[in-house]
Amino acid sequence: MGKVISFINQKGGVGKTTMAFNAAFALAKNGHRVLAIDLDPQANLTLLFQAGNELNIYQLLVNSIKELKMLHAPAMLSSVMKRGTVDLLPAGQELSGFDLTVASINAPRQLVLKRFIEANGLKDRYDFIIIDCPPTLGLLVINALCASDGVIVPFRPDDFSLKGLEHFYQVLSDIDEMGIVRAPEIFLHVPNLVDLRRKQENDDLSKIMESIEKELGPGKIFSPFLNKAGLVKSLSGRKSVFDFKSQEFSELQEKFLGVAKKIEEWSHEHI
Ligand SMILES: Nc1ncnc2c1ncn2[C@@H]1O[C@H](COP(=O)(O)OP(=O)(O)O)[C@@H](O)[C@H]1O
Ligand SMILES: [Mg+2]
Repeated sequence: MGKVISFINQKGGVGKTTMAFNAAFALAKNGHRVLAIDLDPQANLTLLFQAGNELNIYQLLVNSIKELKMLHAPAMLSSVMKRGTVDLLPAGQELSGFDLTVASINAPRQLVLKRFIEANGLKDRYDFIIIDCPPTLGLLVINALCASDGVIVPFRPDDFSLKGLEHFYQVLSDIDEMGIVRAPEIFLHVPNLVDLRRKQENDDLSKIMESIEKELGPGKIFSPFLNKAGLVKSLSGRKSVFDFKSQEFSELQEKFLGVAKKIEEWSHEHI
């Protein structure tokens, strides 16, 4: 059975899309079958794949709900899916209306994505399904959480990130308490855009790491990603770090292969 892994943080600009994109290609490089799902209405991940998004995951989700199917144009998985080294289900602007669209349905609104993945046997067809989430804790992200086995949290160490993380842990335990599905495990935090020369940031990072350990136990924090010009360059060329050859990129490749290794190890422990 494949594993569903979401990249989540309610803050924007922390590296969710960057990490999801490159981690997906790292997993593919290791021979896994990987599907990326873009769940952000801003469709940044979709742009990185240079995928048009006339038909996107929104239509698929809406079509997967019996009560809504009649009201919308039909959409088929095979015509929405973009195939490549990593397959993609693209996002589109319409996703921002998802909350409203499903507001009146009788089926559980937080399980739409989970049921869609199950109905299409996606966990049989892929080893890993990587979900890039919008910077909220709204219904789309709740859907991602309910569909996920594991969660990776990229964050920027600053004054506010600790509060944000605590709020996020609370949302997970709320999901557990609802008792409908088991909340996924947060198995990795990735400090990103860290400037080790700034003392304040070092202090903030240590404090955050300490409190993550207290909450979740040891071994759940990846070594920090620094601010890397190479990443900006590769993203603006809509390429993963594995498309380049210089020394700078071999370091970045090592880092993302390291993230992939964490994902593989975690999934072996959770068969
Ligand atoms: N380690 C890094 N070094 C340099 N730039 C980065 C790094 N991580 C992310 N970025 C840049 O920061 C911006 C925000 O990253 P992104 O992945 O889009 O965040 P999010 O998806 O959380 O909003 C992007 O423009 C990206 O190119
Ligand atoms: Mg993003």
